[in-house]
Amino acid sequence: MSGMADGKSADKCARHVAIIMDGNGRWAQLRGRPRLFGHRAGAKRVREIVEACPDLGVEYLTIFAFSTENWKRTQTEVSGLMSLFKHYILKEARSLAEAGVCVRFIGDRHRLEPKLVTLMGELEQITQDNTRVNLTIALNYGGRDEVARAVKRMALDIEAGKICAQDVSENTLTRYLDTHVLPDPDLVIRTSGEARVSNFLLWQAAYSEYEFVKTLWPDFTREIFAQIVGDFAHRDRRFGAVKS
Ligand code: FPP
Repeated sequence: MSGMADGKSADKCARHVAIIMDGNGRWAQLRGRPRLFGHRAGAKRVREIVEACPDLGVEYLTIFAFSTENWKRTQTEVSGLMSLFKHYILKEARSLAEAGVCVRFIGDRHRLEPKLVTLMGELEQITQDNTRVNLTIALNYGGRDEVARAVKRMALDIEAGKICAQDVSENTLTRYLDTHVLPDPDLVIRTSGEARVSNFLLWQAAYSEYEFVKTLWPDFTREIFAQIVGDFAHRDRRFGAVKS
């Protein structure tokens, strides 16, 4: 993306940043409030981070909003989160569209309530021609689930004679993933001090750099984001090769 504020060379930029937004529950607990209070505060952080992307050379931002494992939380928390997602889309759709953000969702939509799925589709549709920032929201997403769904679709195409089993390669499978239009993430950030991958972008992040920060997601600011993305430029990425 052109127009980077500090003139950093584009090849050193984190073109695609993915974030595991962790720590909402603890943030709320520290304030003696229910967990949903933390999730609402977390949702408010998203806009600031999306807005910071163009100046930092970040073209793609992918955020983990709800995992395939998050259904194990209490019914109150799960339904509160689902309401929050609907509310977020209704409230933010217009400003995201006007800010030039192209929004996509990844994950399995089948288990989500129809009203939410409709809102997700509408937001994707009204923002599909935008190019300033690509925001991907992972909702009912799990890396293993995504690969299993991709393999299933690919197997059906093999069965139907559309592709030949002998021709299957890494690239073939990549095309069946939810993320098929996205580049692999350069950098994955996880907040709240936990150093785990938690089933996020398992295939895509094979060569990503990871940054684990102690900050809880509702306290994550544009400045912290800029610092991490800036530091990324100094990392030595070899993709399995030897440094020349
Ligand atoms: C992890 O914190 C966070 C989640 C499971 C939900 C993430 C959702 C948001 C940030 C808000 C909504 C986002 C959008 C796009 C509207 P946690 O609950 O596991 O925190 P804890 O580890 O402190 O308990």
